Amino acid sequence: MGNEKPGVNSTQSTIKQTNESSSTGKSRRDFLANTLMGTGLVVSHLFAGGLGLRYLYPAKKDRRQRLFVGLKSEIPLGTAQPFKTPQGTTVNVVHSTNGFIALSDVCPHLGCRVHWESQTNEFICPCHNGHFDASGAPTAGPPAEMGVGLSKYKVVVDSDVVFIEMRVTT
Ligand code: FES
Repeated sequence: MGNEKPGVNSTQSTIKQTNESSSTGKSRRDFLANTLMGTGLVVSHLFAGGLGLRYLYPAKKDRRQRLFVGLKSEIPLGTAQPFKTPQGTTVNVVHSTNGFIALSDVCPHLGCRVHWESQTNEFICPCHNGHFDASGAPTAGPPAEMGVGLSKYKVVVDSDVVFIEMRVTT
């Protein structure tokens, strides 16, 4: 007992402490690894469950809605009648020699609103002088350079009544 050197005890104590702290560190590491693995498993199961539910429940259907625009006689030949959709967009219904055509009023260049020029039978975009014919095809300006016309909607003429058909998601 009396032979113990003063430095030996403190070295053994330091080694013991280092072993304890390393075993504590290891258990913390294990805990973190297990937690991350568990979280990953839960997330992957939730994702797989979500995919499974998509097969159990039918996807939302695209349904077409028929919207009343007006009587044929209310849209004379050579005119365009603006029509406000329930979604708040405007569709121009043109009565040309080819029949009725429904066109979006949004310019495909940068989204300005086009208007109908009855004297020249065309749509004009005031922002960059874009021109479109009565069928919505680009004829001048940036839309013609891009080769992109006005978006079209389906027109249904039932007896004397003009409708447009739009896709709605239910
Ligand atoms: S936004 Fe219409 S021509 Fe540029």
